[in-house]
Amino acid sequence: MPLDHDSSPIQINVRSANAKTSIKDKHPSTIVVFVRKGKSKTEVLGDPSLNKQLGELTESLLQNGLKLDDLKKSGAVLRLANVGSYKNVVIFSLDEKSKSSEASRSLGASVYACLKSNKIDSADIAFGPIAAHAQAFVEGVLLAAYDFKQFKTKKNDAEKDAPTCVSRLDLVVEKKFSPATLEKAISTAHELCDCVNFARDLGNVPGNLMTPELLADATIKKAKGTGLKVTVWDRARIVKEKFGGLLGVSLGSAVDPRFIIMEYNGAAKSKKPVCFVGKGLTFDSGGISIKPSAAMEEMKFDKCGGTAVIGTMLAIAKLKLKINAIGLVPATENMPGPLANKPGDILTARNGKTVEVDNTDAEGRLILMDALSYASELKPAVIFDAATLTGACVVALGNIHTGIFTRDKKLRKKIADAAEISGELVWALPIHDHHVSDMKGTYADLCNISSVKGAGASTAAAFLEQFVDKDIPWAHFDIAGTAWHVGNRLNYCTKKGASGVMVRTFVELAKIFG
Ligand code: BES
Ligand code: ZN
Ligand code: ZN
Repeated sequence: MPLDHDSSPIQINVRSANAKTSIKDKHPSTIVVFVRKGKSKTEVLGDPSLNKQLGELTESLLQNGLKLDDLKKSGAVLRLANVGSYKNVVIFSLDEKSKSSEASRSLGASVYACLKSNKIDSADIAFGPIAAHAQAFVEGVLLAAYDFKQFKTKKNDAEKDAPTCVSRLDLVVEKKFSPATLEKAISTAHELCDCVNFARDLGNVPGNLMTPELLADATIKKAKGTGLKVTVWDRARIVKEKFGGLLGVSLGSAVDPRFIIMEYNGAAKSKKPVCFVGKGLTFDSGGISIKPSAAMEEMKFDKCGGTAVIGTMLAIAKLKLKINAIGLVPATENMPGPLANKPGDILTARNGKTVEVDNTDAEGRLILMDALSYASELKPAVIFDAATLTGACVVALGNIHTGIFTRDKKLRKKIADAAEISGELVWALPIHDHHVSDMKGTYADLCNISSVKGAGASTAAAFLEQFVDKDIPWAHFDIAGTAWHVGNRLNYCTKKGASGVMVRTFVELAKIFG
């Protein structure tokens, strides 16, 4: 039930503003225009047929006190305007900084917010100046349109008063832009954002309604008809496959773990797959090393590495990328039930290495060690994992950057390239042999916590590294700071709740490595 809402009901079309079909001929009553400070006066960008009327209007408004700076982020709706038969003119000001694709994503979100708050349900957009970043702009609109209100039984007052939400946008472009290219960009953005928003949904649903079993069921349901093959291992299979970490972490919980395997074949069988692994802790109480109660409810988001991988695999399939890809999500709760791991307990990983569990709250690495060992057995071209792994990463990078860890310089560069396209901020943190030494166990091969203080995000990464085949390029993404509550930074994310982070970057990486 909770995931059945349509998170992107906005219809976005392309329309050519050629000489014969004037931009005024068939349109909603609102037009969004972008202006820029020119040498002598403010110019309206885009369709020349608009320039004259709107240029004069904008100039007179600016002379009468409308400030360009005020128009940069939130725009302005001018209801007094009467340009052609448009009743509303929405003006946004662009500057040099507006040229990046991330700026266009943010602009898409601002335009959406401006229309929504002014209860405008459909608009033309004089799109020429943004056309180069059409996909990013549309992503901004569709990501900003996401909400998570399925569990509210009553609308709040503001919603009662708002009869409409934005339902249609027409991107109006001059003849020189190819409608086919723009239409492709729009449909790519729709598919991608549907998957980011699905990942957000999975993250936002609380632990009682998103157990490992329900996470697997939701994945199977969403994958229907996409070409993605989903296989789910139950507890018995997890035992049989010697996933000692995943099983161990699940012991304190009343619900069984799952291991979700997603496979997509879009290229020849001989082509090595790209492999994504995600931490799927449907709730992390800390176990016997229990967490303080303040903000513990946020630990429903401890599955967001897993949900990023599910979103990524769905997007790869829906976009029909010509690659092979595998997604692996170990899913469990971490609870302090009677059979829970006790500090000091020793677990054996899939690859035979033994681990002392000195802190049951460092559980993410215990479930990932099995998944990474299994991933290595599949001999993929590359392995990427995403996990809300350490509070230390939040201390280092806040909710601004995702921490990335790899010793492979070339891979680091490719990740930076992918993140540049996606607009998701990543920052490389070290893994060094010193970090590995700090994770040695006293009674077992490894310990799940460091023997020294500090560098907690790096020692966690060094622990994971012990389970990846040395010949396979691998990078770890610690999304502990960026997986939720980033709306204070990014206007296309809800103020609170899951961000869907890394789906966009992982899809770009899949394109690079596939
Ligand atoms: N899920 C947490 C990490 C986390 C904490 C993510 C806060 C986001 C916000 C993880 O399982 C955990 O508890 N890690 C411990 C490891 C420590 C015991 C070595 C941590 O970071 O405190
Ligand atoms: Zn934990
Ligand atoms: Zn955790």
